Amino acid sequence: MELSRRTVIAGAGAAAAGAAATTALGGTAHASPGRGKPARTLFGRLADGTKVHSWSLANGGTRLKVLSYGGIVQSLEVPDRRGRHANVSLGFGTLEEYVASSPYFGALIGRYGNRIGAGRFTLDGTVHQLSVNDGANSLHGGERGFDKRVWDVEPFAEGSDVGLRLSYVSADGEMGYPGTLRTRVTYTLTRHGDWRVDYAATTDRATVVNLTSHVYWNLAGESGGSVADHELSIAATRYTPVDSGLIPTGELARVGGTPFDFRGAKPVGRDLRAAHPQILYGQGFDHNWVLDKGVTARPQHAATLRDPASGRTLRIATTEPGLQFYSGNFLDGTLVGTGGRVYRQGDGLCLETQHFPDSPNRPSFPSTVLRPGGTYRSTTVHSFDA
Ligand code: GLA
Repeated sequence: MELSRRTVIAGAGAAAAGAAATTALGGTAHASPGRGKPARTLFGRLADGTKVHSWSLANGGTRLKVLSYGGIVQSLEVPDRRGRHANVSLGFGTLEEYVASSPYFGALIGRYGNRIGAGRFTLDGTVHQLSVNDGANSLHGGERGFDKRVWDVEPFAEGSDVGLRLSYVSADGEMGYPGTLRTRVTYTLTRHGDWRVDYAATTDRATVVNLTSHVYWNLAGESGGSVADHELSIAATRYTPVDSGLIPTGELARVGGTPFDFRGAKPVGRDLRAAHPQILYGQGFDHNWVLDKGVTARPQHAATLRDPASGRTLRIATTEPGLQFYSGNFLDGTLVGTGGRVYRQGDGLCLETQHFPDSPNRPSFPSTVLRPGGTYRSTTVHSFDA
């Protein structure tokens, strides 16, 4: 097993963390990252010898590191109100940790973001049994979803943008899904420092698709501890309540008068311990909000997350009709993050733009069906300021 420089740094406990780790992790080629074609370094090797690369790119004050394994955002640095950068995305320092047991840190999720009940759905009269990996259900594409695949990565610099085109061909029947799915995800850093994600997919047989990104945000910096003080607003009047297995009941419930009301900015921790049955099911927030804007051709505002202490603010705009807000409930103090500190419950949160969970079994939800000749498209833009 190859020990990368990252391994050494993470192993050293990065107590000298902050600045030291940032510089060291940035590598010599990116000591002062500016706009330019993304550069690649070897991050590690999988058990079968396959090389995994780390790609570094920077633009408009945002610095991004992406792995060819899972399309993982390994680090995303943005400045605070005094111009000090921090990595605001939870992750690991080594490939081995990502492979061993990652709760989808920073990863691309496919073919289907979130859960499909009983890991089964019927399409055009045919029942499809999926890989089941979350009790009786299929979560985030099954046992070996897109987060555990090696993607082809092509860098680009076009106009004022820099980015990466990631592609992966999922074979017909992979994880139980019908159709060969040709997937392309484009990560773009704009000159304003926005991180834009464009998803596209085609198939040769009718199938279902719901792609997303599973970044865990901590705007104080990934080692910053609890995000309970972050303020969150979500442009949604309704959410999809779930059963005890976190599968939507089919109801679109109003958020008014419940802990799920994030229409105005609210500290994440304020209602996190509310004795509401839905909070108990998820051990916190782990629900899909029904964005008021619905499916849109262009990305429209969905949510704002702000860390009052650093001033760092993240705005999310999407073409998708739903947003999974997951308050990091299953982080349990057993994983050591990029900065050498242990992640505990609520040390990061996810805002996953998506179609609603279990849509293939819910004809009343916006459809996730993709047919030959059609192209699945989805865009989410993450904008930062401080
Ligand atoms: C999603 C799910 C959660 C959990 C996390 C990963 O956000 O909704 O229930 O599985 O992914 O731990």
